[in-house]
Amino acid sequence: MAELTFTSKDPSTVNANVLVLGVASVDGTATIVGPSSLDTSALADLDLKSIGAGAKADTVVRIPAPSGFAAKTLVLVGLGEDHYGRVEQLRRAAGSVTRSITDVDSISFALPAVEEEELVAIIEGALFGAYAFRSYRTGDAATSGTPVSAIEIISPIARQSAVKKGAARAEVIADAIKGTRDLVNSAPNELFPAAFADIAKATAKGTGVKVSVLDDKALVSGGYGGLVGVGQGSTRGPRLVKVSYSPLRAKRKIALIGKGITFDSGGISIKPAAGMEAMKSDMAGAAAVLHTVIAAAKLSLPVSVTGYLCLAENMPSGSAMRPSDVITTRSGKTVEVLNTDAEGRLVLADGLAAAVEDGADLLVDIATLTGAQMMALGNRVSAVMGTDGAVAEVLAAAEVAGESVWHMPLPEELRPTLDSQVADLANMGQRWGGMLVAGHFLKEFTAERPWAHIDIAGPSYNENAPFGYTPKGGTGHGVRTMLAVLENAAG
Ligand code: BES
Ligand code: MN
Ligand code: ZN
Repeated sequence: MAELTFTSKDPSTVNANVLVLGVASVDGTATIVGPSSLDTSALADLDLKSIGAGAKADTVVRIPAPSGFAAKTLVLVGLGEDHYGRVEQLRRAAGSVTRSITDVDSISFALPAVEEEELVAIIEGALFGAYAFRSYRTGDAATSGTPVSAIEIISPIARQSAVKKGAARAEVIADAIKGTRDLVNSAPNELFPAAFADIAKATAKGTGVKVSVLDDKALVSGGYGGLVGVGQGSTRGPRLVKVSYSPLRAKRKIALIGKGITFDSGGISIKPAAGMEAMKSDMAGAAAVLHTVIAAAKLSLPVSVTGYLCLAENMPSGSAMRPSDVITTRSGKTVEVLNTDAEGRLVLADGLAAAVEDGADLLVDIATLTGAQMMALGNRVSAVMGTDGAVAEVLAAAEVAGESVWHMPLPEELRPTLDSQVADLANMGQRWGGMLVAGHFLKEFTAERPWAHIDIAGPSYNENAPFGYTPKGGTGHGVRTMLAVLENAAG
């Protein structure tokens, strides 16, 4: 994690390695912008167009610093348009700098922030962007592209207490996002359910978060038919990992349930080969849950929260579940498995049931659940469905956190499409509106508690070009929203 320092000096006097200024479109002209203390006269002769600098988002240009600056180099970053608001605009601009300017000792930010919230967003973006996943590289490739290790924040308001507090919180969140991304990017031969459970224990060490693990035998004897059924095709059995943080004087008891399919081949209803490699990311929900609970503990939030990591590997084999198998879930409800590739809802059914048994008063599940989510909302916007109050909590949280989450309905006419000829319900219903059908399935296991279901199939894993603070691969989507739900619940 990059070290943060603060100064309220005039940016031109800061002896920086890399001094970051913004470029905004002012009356249609690309213009250098910075804190109110920035004197732009030394930059008046700079022809922005000829050096490729501009106001467009993700435009990052590095030049030797002109005379009048104590810095060695200047970076000019486009601030982009404020489609997602001023705060997110700054968060992304800062992130695009730390993401693309690597192998430097330090980066000093002098971006235009008037409000404390804006400066904190710059800090967040800078920390979120300073990420690289190189665990499997050797030689030069293991050390090149190293994210910056020191970030300096230059602003007249840098020393305000709200900024200091926001920065400390940003460091915890950045850690959580990094941990989530690392898990998602991990190769599935290494990250199988038992390995994930071990990582959960190691990560929780010293944080006050308790971790308990139900292994495959305990899941069989406990009647967790969803986890057992999905996991039985793999030589590496399923796990249900509970991670709980329960401070004294906690106000509410919140459960976060994460889909943790360490690899989703589809099982006997096997997926096409093209693109199957992305299914190592099918545990992004569980990863986000683990790190959200740990972040809540690090921030000492006065709210009780338990994460349920529903871990299994979905593989085809002689012992795998078949289409037409009937399983009995932990809740007692039976499910006819019409498609073994609709496995996420089966493991979540058991996770939801466990959370209900433990007495949760709010259920939030998060899952890379359906391809239909991406059909509906693309790769950057996740979906939330559920009971009105719980959905409202998630939407309010996403709004302050800066994540794009959109409310989707659970139209009642879709529910009968899950009716089974032989069991209480089937795991697949009508194709159209598949995301909503999956939501209906999960609802059956919520015992009418306040519940929100977040489908992160698209935004959890970025297969396209990186942007803002979002790298290729695992993104950490969902962590900030769930943490904000907990913070709001804590009051
Ligand atoms: N993990 C997939 C959903 C997914 C697809 C996530 C693409 C991210 C990118 C899930 O287990 C799945 O296979 N869902 C099926 C359900 C269908 C068989 C009812 C789907 O969406 O096609
Ligand atoms: Mn699947
Ligand atoms: Zn899946």
